Amino acid sequence: MSDSLPLPLNPLFARPGESMPGDRFSIPEGEMLPETAYQIVHDEVMLDGNARLNLATFVGTWMDPFASKLYSESFDKNMIDKDEYPKTAEIEDRCWKIVAGLWNAPDPLHTIGTSTIGSSEACMLGGLALKRRWQNARKAAGKPTDKPNLIMSSAVQVVWEKFCNYWDVEPRYVPISDEHKTLDGTGLAGYVDENTIGVVAIMGVTYTGMYEPVAAIAAALDQIQKDTGLDIPIHVDGASGGMIAPFLQPDLEWDFRLERVHSISTSGHKYGLVYPGLGWVVWRKREYCPDDLIFDVSYLGGHMPTFALNFSRPGAQVLLQYYNFLRLGRDGYTRVQQASHDVARHLADGIAKMDAFELWNDASDIPVFAWRLKAGHTDHWTLYDLQNRLRMKGWLIPAYPMPDNLTDVTVQRIVVRNGLSLDLAQDLLVDIKEQTEFLDQLDGPMPAEKNAHAFTH
Ligand SMILES: Cc1ncc(COP(=O)(O)O)c(C=O)c1O
Repeated sequence: MSDSLPLPLNPLFARPGESMPGDRFSIPEGEMLPETAYQIVHDEVMLDGNARLNLATFVGTWMDPFASKLYSESFDKNMIDKDEYPKTAEIEDRCWKIVAGLWNAPDPLHTIGTSTIGSSEACMLGGLALKRRWQNARKAAGKPTDKPNLIMSSAVQVVWEKFCNYWDVEPRYVPISDEHKTLDGTGLAGYVDENTIGVVAIMGVTYTGMYEPVAAIAAALDQIQKDTGLDIPIHVDGASGGMIAPFLQPDLEWDFRLERVHSISTSGHKYGLVYPGLGWVVWRKREYCPDDLIFDVSYLGGHMPTFALNFSRPGAQVLLQYYNFLRLGRDGYTRVQQASHDVARHLADGIAKMDAFELWNDASDIPVFAWRLKAGHTDHWTLYDLQNRLRMKGWLIPAYPMPDNLTDVTVQRIVVRNGLSLDLAQDLLVDIKEQTEFLDQLDGPMPAEKNAHAFTH
């Protein structure tokens, strides 16, 4: 039997390729019909979780049909081809200026920023600029540059550990605790010295969704400057909060209204409401991004500065971001984020009412919250068991230990995104209640895997 038969057997799953197991780890010798290859891949990913029920991820899983139309018209655009796709390049430029305006940059049109593949690349660029500025100043003063350090909470996202590892920067972690649930400036003076390139403040801590009080951190650094002369800048990792705070907490001063904030990054693909593959980073002033990190690409016969780790990457997401800015405007973003916030608060209230749990935080910052088992509630089951029971119902809601210093605390977290309606949230509360009741009825401890694999942020 061959694929060139005039009457292929599809959809009876009896065609070569579908009817027999193939070698999955080497390229096949021959071709197969596109329908067959499609069916194999399509079927295999049916076993993935349902993206809309994935309440572990911060990343966009729903866009409207016109966004999907635009996506399908533009997924062939390479963001780096600025000369070939000058309009896409221009729209990228407009987008980061819009973002700079949302973050209250003093002069959004004359500062510098860029799109990236996500917050990770954006954070790396922010960190690199801090390091290079510190190095340049040290060199100019004839001082050594071999021991840079960066200060951050122990609850940073893994990108900051990577940044320090890849670029030879010593990470200095300020441990969080039950009393200090985020980095808040307390005791900062014990961590900084002349080799400190900056402090990372997080708007939307990955573990819990809480905002770090950037203004309090900036005030602590002001005091340190008064006492020691050290002028230490802040990079705000606003991966999720960077696109929530401008709409839901416009009076909160966490952004370029604070002079000490030199750069801010965010994920367009989180609360920027775009599909995966987009981040933004903006500097307060052009000079905070050192010239020796910037490359020129030719663009419409002129030049455009670029500053990125990747060369090729998709341009479509940038167009989707611009689409959302136009489509929603400030009011629309506010309403969409408010709807997610309302759902998160509703879920947090519902969970707080259940005897077994206490909230770690209540979703009053970004629409994300975490809870833990009340001390003494049970020794028969853990939040990992609840995670598994909910997975059987289709919900992906991770349980994980808190970072160093608090690793004995296990929490479970829900990220509410655009697309989780109040109606679905109601079903979720019922499932959490029922599964908790099931676990509470166990007449002995739930067996546990010895080397269980933990959720990674
Ligand atoms: C605070 C924080 N920083 C950075 C990142 C990395 O973002 P991305 O996945 O867009 O690279 C995340 C992702 O969850 C995050 O929560």
